[in-house]
Parts: sequence; structure tokens; C-alpha cells
Amino acid sequence: MAEARIIDGRPIAEQLQAQVAAEVAQLKAEHGLTPGLAVVLVGEDPASQIYVRSKGEKSLAAGMHSVTHRLPEQTTQEALLALVAELNADPAIHGILVQLPLPKHLDQGPVIAAIDPAKDVDGLTTINAGLLASGLPALTPCTPLGCMIMLRETLGSLSGLRAVVVGRSVLVGRPIAQLLLQADCTVTIAHSRTKDLPAVCREADILVAAAGQPQMVKADWIKAGATVIDVGINRVPFRDPVKAAAGKTKVVGDVDYKSAAKVAGAITPVPGGVGLMTVACLLKNTVTAAKRIHG
Ligand code: GUN
Repeated sequence: MAEARIIDGRPIAEQLQAQVAAEVAQLKAEHGLTPGLAVVLVGEDPASQIYVRSKGEKSLAAGMHSVTHRLPEQTTQEALLALVAELNADPAIHGILVQLPLPKHLDQGPVIAAIDPAKDVDGLTTINAGLLASGLPALTPCTPLGCMIMLRETLGSLSGLRAVVVGRSVLVGRPIAQLLLQADCTVTIAHSRTKDLPAVCREADILVAAAGQPQMVKADWIKAGATVIDVGINRVPFRDPVKAAAGKTKVVGDVDYKSAAKVAGAITPVPGGVGLMTVACLLKNTVTAAKRIHG
């Protein structure tokens, strides 16, 4: 069988970034409105630092107002909540993102709950999650939005297709299942307790791997010709013992890409797939929030 079509995230993300930049320019020119994004990073997590830098750079490149608050590791819950309150009240800020994970001494739940749902560009507050689950307009988590854009680019209409989502996280698994349902798919959410997971996955026309388990989804879990969206970003040691001994790591997805590409009809690579869409979708959400706040 022919190798799967590779769903390259770069051109899709670049197109979205350009659309956002055009919309920002129009909002500035016609309404004097500059969408503003505030990103909050607590501590020194190296992966988070890379993501946060990219969010700052790309929002500025799109012409937006952008502030990044870098707080020390030992920041208290009270100080973090005070910053969120300040950003909620700041009229120049339309989107607030608190980068996760937070350091262990901080309690994520009350911090997310403190974000004004109108500025919740991560779509993590229970208000936005509830709106999404009710099929109402919501600010929707960025990675799921990115997955849906890639699926529409690849398949056009998704109506009637069987979709299996592996993973039930609040940030990815649950919201993407809701979006697939809104797109008229027949949706199954599978997870670590699912019986005969490979058989469930083989039912899928659309298989979304979002379990956070490196290379878990094997070729024989995939129906021939299915579209596979790999949300995983897992840092693993190299198999080469010399590189592994030197502490070198590489990034792999939740799908065993090489074997899966021989069975799937289309597949997202890692890196270079879904990961590239997330920041572009964050900018899109910030523009959406700015437009709603200003009516
Ligand atoms: N950490 C990794 N991905 C994300 C994300 O989409 N939002 C937030 N807030 N933190 C993250």
C-alpha cells in the first residue's frame, strides 16, 4: 500500500497566522482595537520557557499587544491570583494564558477558575468547557482547534465519520471529542481503562492520539486509509546507546509513526504536525476574545 499523505502543520499554521495578522490589522484600522495577550509563566520548566517565548514572539509578529509575566519558582498562590485579577481588570488585555504545569506547591484549579471566562483563551474554565459541551459558542482549547483545522484541510466534511479519541484530558481529549461531535462525527473517547483498545482504534476513520504515551499507537491499531492525528509531544532517550548515554533525547508522538504511515491514509508527523498549530490557534482565540469583549 502507498505511504500515507503527510499532514504538514507548517503551511496550515502559517496560513492561519497570516489570517490572524490580517484580522488584527483590520481591527486596528477600523475600530482602533489592538488585541492583547498576557502569558504567565511561573518557574523555570525548560519546555514551558520555549513555548512561552514562541507565544510572545508570534503574537507580536501578528501585530498584537503582548506581555509575558515571568514569575519566580517560589511565587505564592496569593501572588499568582493577584496577577490574574490584575490582568482580568486590564482593558488592554483580551486573552490570559497561565502556562501549565505550575510548580508543585501551587494549586492549578483555583488559578484557572480565577481567569475571567471572557479572557480564557485556553478554554480551560468550567464556563468555557460547559459552553463547548453544550454546543454553544465558547473559547476552545488551542490544540483541539488546531486538530480540527488540520482534519478539515485533509478531509473536508467530517460528517458521519467514526472518530476515536485516545485520551480524556481536559486540555485535549475531552474538548476534541466535543468538536468532532459538533462536526457530526460518531465519537468514542478511549482511555487507559478501555477494553481491547487496539480493536476500538481499528474502528476509526479518524484516530486522534492524545494519551501522552510515546509511540503507543501501532500500525495494527489503524484501519487502512484512516486519518491519524498525533497530539503527543514526548521527550525520549535515543535508541542509539551512544547518544542515549550522552543524555541526548528526541521528540516522538503517541503514534509509532514509521509503521503507522504504511497503513494510514494521512498522518500528522511529530514534530512538524499538530504542535505548530497550537500557537496560531491561541492568537486566533485572542482575536475572538477581543472582538467579543468589544461587542
Ligand atoms: N502547557 C502545554 N500546553 C499548554 C496549553 O495549551 N496551555 C497551557 N496553559 N499550558 C500548556
